[in-house]
Amino acid sequence: MTKGSEQPNPLREGLSTRAVPQPCAIAIFGATGDLTHRKLIPALYNLAADGELPPAVAVIGFARRSKSDDEFRNELAQTTKQFSRQDLREDIWKTFAQSILYHQSEFEDESGYQSLAKRLDQIDEERGTRGNRLFYLAAAPEKFEPILKNLKAAGLNKAKEGSWARVIIEKPFGRDLRSAQELNRVVSDAFVEDQTYRIDHFLGKETAQNILVLRFANAIFEPIWNARYIDHVQITAAETLGVEGRAGYYETAGALRDMVQNHLLQLLCLVAMEAPTDLSADSIRDEKVKVVRSLRRYRADEIAKLVVRGQYTKGAINGENVPGYREEENVNPKSETETYVALRLSIETWRWSEVPIYLRVGKHLPKSATEISVHFKKAPMVLFNRDSTEHDQNVLVIRIQPDEGISLRMMAKIPGTSLRIEPVKMDFHYGTSFGKASPEAYERLLLDAMSGDATLFARRDEVEEAWAFIDPIEKAWAEKNAPRLTFYPAGSWGPEEADELLARDGRAWRRL
Ligand code: BG6
Repeated sequence: MTKGSEQPNPLREGLSTRAVPQPCAIAIFGATGDLTHRKLIPALYNLAADGELPPAVAVIGFARRSKSDDEFRNELAQTTKQFSRQDLREDIWKTFAQSILYHQSEFEDESGYQSLAKRLDQIDEERGTRGNRLFYLAAAPEKFEPILKNLKAAGLNKAKEGSWARVIIEKPFGRDLRSAQELNRVVSDAFVEDQTYRIDHFLGKETAQNILVLRFANAIFEPIWNARYIDHVQITAAETLGVEGRAGYYETAGALRDMVQNHLLQLLCLVAMEAPTDLSADSIRDEKVKVVRSLRRYRADEIAKLVVRGQYTKGAINGENVPGYREEENVNPKSETETYVALRLSIETWRWSEVPIYLRVGKHLPKSATEISVHFKKAPMVLFNRDSTEHDQNVLVIRIQPDEGISLRMMAKIPGTSLRIEPVKMDFHYGTSFGKASPEAYERLLLDAMSGDATLFARRDEVEEAWAFIDPIEKAWAEKNAPRLTFYPAGSWGPEEADELLARDGRAWRRL
């Protein structure tokens, strides 16, 4: 068997050069689900349209329902039209659709995997996919274990000499430390770590990747990227969307598990990590995991003060009335599930000592926007700053989405004969500077998995450390005398308690 890391790709070193994906067959488990329709197939289609797919590729949808290859292709044509980043071009779709096949089986049925193995061998011969296999687990999380066991039983976890087999695992990766460890055990029973790609799609977002470039390809930021110059950091992921028919899952998760344990902590790692020794996947991940490990764990009695959990009540989004969370379909009318979280956390390292980090995520907020803002300390209170207002901090904003870009807020003189100063923005927009649309996160990540580059995927220890940080909060919330759940009307910026969290420190959330 040839593992990912044993097959160095000379054209690619970490983030520095272009990925060169290899011919392969991609088997998607959960092929009739939402993720396949909304994200995976549109991503593969866009890669095909941009000429980024390897010369030979086959996509095999593995699912329970019975249907023919053509029925499957027709369904996907409709949804790809709807969700694709670029318009669907008939000629490109037609060629791409020829690489899509359907394989019907129950996830628990071993024989379905044996027939898959035979089919994959045949595909290798007919289509030149060279024995390379990428298994994408996009099914419900309770199916992960039978899928992994059956892949192993059919020998699909091991590739033939000179080929590779890899597995991509979708979120949620466990629901606490114990279940994540158990899942890691099940995964590692079938695939070694080098074959395992735990996806966190936030890492595939263009601007998330740019954080390391901003920090380590420019000389001016790193010397001031520390407690001496930085007052605090805010990370916000706001969504106008509600639970959108996913209440079944969301009721078991909540915002802390759904967004903070993975996406927000991953962004925080990129902002807070030390420079890696090189750009290899493990060097970068070694530094990221140190950040999570350095997060000060909350004591049970601090949680009420440092973590705010909220739930939306009825309100209006873009002028349209929406029901409260407890009124949503499939939600318990007494549900205590949080749709909003704000936290104040500390990283216990020399670089970040005494620098508060504030995170917030929420559904049904007034605007969809994800950004990181680094708030620098005020200039000395002399000369122009004698009559200092709260507005005189330099703020570096990394806009993850929408309108991807970076801006720096600084003070400037208002033109005129008197000396008055006001904050202005130096602004870089991806769209206008590079004149081309960024690929979707899933495009980049699928390509990376096909090229054996795990840099933008979460490693086993990262996932477990993140749960170790989250668990005490979930535990405190599950207690009888739990810190109380707060409420906010849909369409507002979250509960008042979240504003108080910062106001207590003499700070305020950035207006988005
Ligand atoms: C998913 C969460 O991981 O990320 C969703 O499960 C959330 O609840 C989504 O809406 C946000 O991702 P994006 O890319 O739309 O910002």
